[in-house]
Amino acid sequence: MDRRHLLARVGGGAAALALGALFGPGLGSDRIERLPPSGDDPFSLGVASGMPAPDSVLLWTRLAPRPREPLGGLPDAPIEVHWELAEDEAFATGLRRGTVLARPEHAHSVHAEVAGLAPDRRFFYRFRAGDALSPVGRTRTAPAADAPVDRLRIVLASCQHYEQGEFALHREIADRDIDLVLFVGDYIYESSNARYRVRPHEALAPTDLAGYRQRHVTYKLDPALRAAHAAHPWVLTWDDHEVENDYAGDASRFEDRSSTDFLALRTAAYKAYFEHMPVSPRMAPVGAAMRIHEHYRWGRLADLWTLDGRQYRSTQPCNPPGRAGGRVMTSCDELADPARTMFGLAQERWLAEQLAASRSGWRLLAQGTQIAQGGMETPLGRSRFSDGWDGYPQARRRLMQTIARQAQGNVVCLGGDVHRHVVARLRADPEDERTPVVASEVVTSSLTTRGLSETATALMRRSNPDLLHARSDERGYVLLDLTPQRLGIELRATDFPVPAEARIRTQSRFVVEAGHAGPQRDG
Ligand SMILES: [Fe+2]
Repeated sequence: MDRRHLLARVGGGAAALALGALFGPGLGSDRIERLPPSGDDPFSLGVASGMPAPDSVLLWTRLAPRPREPLGGLPDAPIEVHWELAEDEAFATGLRRGTVLARPEHAHSVHAEVAGLAPDRRFFYRFRAGDALSPVGRTRTAPAADAPVDRLRIVLASCQHYEQGEFALHREIADRDIDLVLFVGDYIYESSNARYRVRPHEALAPTDLAGYRQRHVTYKLDPALRAAHAAHPWVLTWDDHEVENDYAGDASRFEDRSSTDFLALRTAAYKAYFEHMPVSPRMAPVGAAMRIHEHYRWGRLADLWTLDGRQYRSTQPCNPPGRAGGRVMTSCDELADPARTMFGLAQERWLAEQLAASRSGWRLLAQGTQIAQGGMETPLGRSRFSDGWDGYPQARRRLMQTIARQAQGNVVCLGGDVHRHVVARLRADPEDERTPVVASEVVTSSLTTRGLSETATALMRRSNPDLLHARSDERGYVLLDLTPQRLGIELRATDFPVPAEARIRTQSRFVVEAGHAGPQRDG
């Protein structure tokens, strides 16, 4: 099929993307192929949606009839994929269609931005390639920017180490009546821990693009994870394990990995991440850079910012020059250095401007890890874990000052990474308990990954009165239920390691009342 013929058949919001796909840089082939018939399901990795806006949503899939083969068993040529989106599961009402190209240089992934949609609407979608039809996914658009909105329900999740448990929590997430899944990092793990392995990764830690693609394939082949993607739109940011444990900017924690070598690794990891996630094509990485921080809006009810605490951060304090890596420390001169940053100065400024301009009821800041202090009082002094915000106290003060300018007390910080459910008060200076509470924090436990011992967590609670709740022994996710008056917090939990048939219960409930910074116990 020639280009003109294809373009003539492309409809609506897909046109711009198709143009980009056809005429953008790096297209190696003029040949556009139909999916070759084979007995294998090209939609083995499922379908997903993300980035819900008032008038658009992003639809994702990746053609991979034989996902363990290079290029998923497909030829090195662009392949036509058709998408359909409608208001009913029979695809009869309000049907929209488009054609995009799954390009070999993006591992035949599809990122179809469907624009011109009505706000606050639920949709069904599916893909077709050759004679194969994908599973049906469900998604939705956000309410109009100025619309009064009664309710927003979010699942907050992170840390899904494939080896350390079954994805049973994703089954429950898939079944829930929610608006979106907010995933705040450690979507894949690059590394292994033989002590806690209930099922193996496909290989050792990835070292190149082919390796990271295979790691993402391992995760996407899990049917429970695919179900959670198909059921809801996802909003994403990342943490470290999408690339390498404890990395910081261009620095690896391994001595034999120079910043040049590490940036080559980061390039591969970000590219594989992009190829496997429901994110906009404009997020496609350029070399080692990929912008993932983003602003989302839910009518007048909530603004949500996803933040990137890895790509632009300073190395952890008092490490050898250019070396990343977290450790437990008691003191270190570099902690006082105001030039050290978690988000990078450009992202800090962007967030400050965004917050200042926000007029919505709730302002949600989603980032990778725990902001509230987590150090422990020990005979040698107070401990800090240098990879978390405790290792970036000046950057944390700046963030809290930015938040404190939001007089309404409606800022709620959301995080993950630490493998414990945490509900906390955030003070203007988190290290000075005489300063006022200016925000609330909710950190989700891991979906599967092992947490700290309860002995350590008990000491952490005793050492930090602003931690209203902290439990490391259970895996879980958090259900956030927002109305104009209150933000409900339900901590869902189950045992470690998570079996396929896990019994999931509510560990605790909290609430933030509008206009009142700081969570309170609910019941
Ligand atoms: Fe993690």
